[in-house]
Amino acid sequence: MNVLLIGSGAREHVIAWKLRQSPRLDSLVTMPGNPGTAECGTNIAGGDNEAVVRACRVHKIDLAVVGSEEPLAAGLVDRLAVEGIAAFGPTAAAAAIESSKIFAKELMAQHGIPTAPFAVFDDAAAAADYVKAQSRPLVIKADGLAKGKGVIVTETEEEALAALKTVMVERQFGEAGVRALVEQRLFGPETSAQAFTDGRTVAHMPFSCDHKPIFDGNRGPNTGGMGAYSPPAWLPDETQEAIRAGVTEAAVLAMQAEGRPYQGVLYPGIMQTGTGPHVIEFNCRFGDPEAQVLLPRLESDLLEVMLAVVEQRLADIEFRWSDDACVGVVLASSGYPGGYETGYPITGLADLDDGVQVFQAGTRRQEDGTLVTAGGRVLTVTASGATMQKAREKAYRNVERISFEGMHYRRDIGVAEGALG
Ligand code: AMP
Ligand code: GLY
Repeated sequence: MNVLLIGSGAREHVIAWKLRQSPRLDSLVTMPGNPGTAECGTNIAGGDNEAVVRACRVHKIDLAVVGSEEPLAAGLVDRLAVEGIAAFGPTAAAAAIESSKIFAKELMAQHGIPTAPFAVFDDAAAAADYVKAQSRPLVIKADGLAKGKGVIVTETEEEALAALKTVMVERQFGEAGVRALVEQRLFGPETSAQAFTDGRTVAHMPFSCDHKPIFDGNRGPNTGGMGAYSPPAWLPDETQEAIRAGVTEAAVLAMQAEGRPYQGVLYPGIMQTGTGPHVIEFNCRFGDPEAQVLLPRLESDLLEVMLAVVEQRLADIEFRWSDDACVGVVLASSGYPGGYETGYPITGLADLDDGVQVFQAGTRRQEDGTLVTAGGRVLTVTASGATMQKAREKAYRNVERISFEGMHYRRDIGVAEGALG
């Protein structure tokens, strides 16, 4: 079986690494990939939907796997379907659960899925009047995709009004801010509830958590994610069950009822509040860096799982997940998530303990073979252990052997949010 994987992050590296373990995999082509995916198969140049269709023909692809939200929202799965090429991931209509935050909120409101109270605006003045009439802290969100940046969490009315201006008037997130959401701010620890679904059967993955702020103790600006861990021991079993049934399965049913059957990975981001779990957002693909700690725990064949999703026979798959805890520490360039420099050699990768995996994101292989930094988030170092503490110790012992100029990482990945200062 020949697989084409679309994307270039550490998430795509872990997907490639896991697919490589399948006895059914013949060739793996990644578009555009990174030096990590190149170790699992062949990288080819990236491109738009038409370039993907051409690559599928040239490389006789049996299954395309789409890693990130942009090509899903741009209808890549729909385009491949026209060509008769099987693809893992939702159609554009189903990916709207991530690509339109307003669609997602209205879906939740109509189908009784718990989420913060909200209002929708296409007029900045009306939105400002609404904000002034509220008495509690608010969150302002651009409707569309904004590379994870279109959400502004505020404390005061002044901040909320400034955020509205940024989104709706100055259009800092472009067209994504033509419409905006104003929602009540919730408080509590966050967790990711990812699942595979073929539109009928829902196969829940273990829960995981990422650490978004750049500095220890959840301080500093948000990033794409500075590390992740699975499972979160702090999340009670009954809450996990409430999320599985009341959020993930309810959302799959709701999408079916809306005539937008959902296939692929559905990822509700959850905040555990004093009044139970609430959905913060839905994502239409694996989390990054959560995938880097989930897929190492998957003992089943990922290629079989993906084929079963596409062929709508997920109910036949027997899932096996390791009981081990897994921790993934992101190593970032100095200055990220602001400006940073690249091109620094990365050393120490040959000197790691067995069972430690390094998934590459912002890296580049020079002609002389040297691996150098090429992005903000450079590597995710993952390790497993019988307990979270053992997994953490192993991950950090190995992180300390890796180095590049300006390397920054958090030292508290895998410490439950409740324990952070
Ligand atoms: P999103 O891109 O929707 O995941 O939002 C980014 C981050 O903003 C989330 O991970 C939360 O930490 C925060 N956030 C979003 N919505 C809310 C909300 N209603 N209340 C509190 N925090 C929120
Ligand atoms: N870990 C956050 C995301 O993948 O959107």
